[in-house]
Amino acid sequence: MCRDFTGRPVIPEVLDPVLGAAFAGPRAGNTHGLHLVALQGPDVARYWAVTLPGSRRSTFRWPGLLRAPVLVLVVVDPQAYVQRYAADDKASTGLGHAPADWPVPYWFVDGGAAVMGMLLAAEAVGLGALFFGQFDHEPAVAAEFGVPDGCRSVGTVALGWPAPGGRNPARSARTGRPGGPGFVHRGSW
Ligand SMILES: Cc1cc2nc3c(=O)[nH]c(=O)nc-3n(C[C@H](O)[C@H](O)[C@H](O)COP(=O)(O)O)c2cc1C
Repeated sequence: MCRDFTGRPVIPEVLDPVLGAAFAGPRAGNTHGLHLVALQGPDVARYWAVTLPGSRRSTFRWPGLLRAPVLVLVVVDPQAYVQRYAADDKASTGLGHAPADWPVPYWFVDGGAAVMGMLLAAEAVGLGALFFGQFDHEPAVAAEFGVPDGCRSVGTVALGWPAPGGRNPARSARTGRPGGPGFVHRGSW
């Protein structure tokens, strides 16, 4: 992940395939329930005005993140999944009534896959990227950018050209990489 950007714009020829990679991921039932809101220029400033008001900027841990020229809201539409699973070929699942019925909310699963597609595509062309949460700003961000009621933001992906040393680890990176013998359970846990 990159939290320090140069601010150099990302031209459409580079950006658009990265956005497109979000839609190359798996989708439960091939549901059309993923939307991206891509922000550049003054719209990026609108985002930070909502989520990081001036009073908090001086103490913000990642000032170079504010130079990211592109922010992408990754938005999923639970209702699209419910409608899709009400169709004849999916009705037997019983998931075609309400989002609350879903034991695993597949819109978030697909949203995560969409994020990963973008992160991999960004890395492949040398862009820096950071996925970060909206936390309790989600309703205000949705209102600012016209995200319809009922849709959920999985989070935000910042994209841009990394500043030297910009791929700076979060404090949480101290926990090391997961995986290995303790996490891959063969045969049984
Ligand atoms: C669900 C999720 C939420 C995250 N939220 C944040 C966040 O709010 N702020 C942040 O700086 N990084 C956030 N991250 C990025 C993680 O810290 C990052 O993936 C992890 O540190 C690995 O980064 P590395 O590839 O640079 O080692 C989030 C990642 C995920 C998958």
